[in-house]
Amino acid sequence: MRAVKITLGKNAGPTDPARLESLAATWGLSAVDRADLAPDDVALVVGRDGLRLVHGGVYRRWHPGMLHTLREADCAHPWIRLSGLQRGESVFDGTLGLGTDATFLAEWTGRRVIGCEVVPVLALLASEGLAGVDVEVRCGDSLDVLRAMPDRSVDLVIADPMFQQVDDDASASLDLVRWVADPKPIDRAWVDQALRVARRAVVLKDRARGGLLERLGAPVIHDKTRRAARYGAWPIRGS
Ligand SMILES: C[S@@+](CC[C@H](N)C(=O)[O-])C[C@H]1O[C@@H](n2cnc3c(N)ncnc32)[C@H](O)[C@@H]1O
Repeated sequence: MRAVKITLGKNAGPTDPARLESLAATWGLSAVDRADLAPDDVALVVGRDGLRLVHGGVYRRWHPGMLHTLREADCAHPWIRLSGLQRGESVFDGTLGLGTDATFLAEWTGRRVIGCEVVPVLALLASEGLAGVDVEVRCGDSLDVLRAMPDRSVDLVIADPMFQQVDDDASASLDLVRWVADPKPIDRAWVDQALRVARRAVVLKDRARGGLLERLGAPVIHDKTRRAARYGAWPIRGS
């Protein structure tokens, strides 16, 4: 995982140095002077206008991603349609990122979603960006979190691993995630834990023309067009 630094922005206000110290200590980021950043460094910039990531002179903030398209899809979105999720049911998102999917699912179910992100700076940006949204952000490897969860303790478990979006989604704003995200794919051990924990279904997202779902043996595959992301579902028997 890439080490992320933390630095003060040009526009830092009087309380920002203390905020920087506290964020550095809480999230394990090493503080540097802005002038000492190397071109390849990724750093969290603390300023009057909040937090940004910088890499190679490009700045990016937390953003809600394509949330509007998920809202438009509503019940027809594969997270809902393939899982059979019902209003009021619970969801665990094992690859939170900036929390677009988790936000959609929290709004759709009307229930708190637990979202797990392994990269601390992304968990931090998601916690800030999702203030006011009913998503509980946990920082850690979702495989470890799933292992600690009781059998059949959540209705739906989802994952959208990183490598899937590298060429699917041209949005420049996703740079922020790409600079630091953990590209480790979801494996069979992860699916087995998710199947133990889920009551209704496990659903994974795969890249357009990807082979992840076949490799992991997904029994239901939604592959609408060769240009769009694919989704695979493991319905839980008797749910
Ligand atoms: C493609 S992004 C997810 C985007 C997310 N679905 C959204 O709506 O914003 C994948 C994220 O999962 C994280 N990740 C990858 N493996 C993980 C794991 N085992 N546990 C927790 N987070 C993980 C990556 O660091 C990355 O931020």
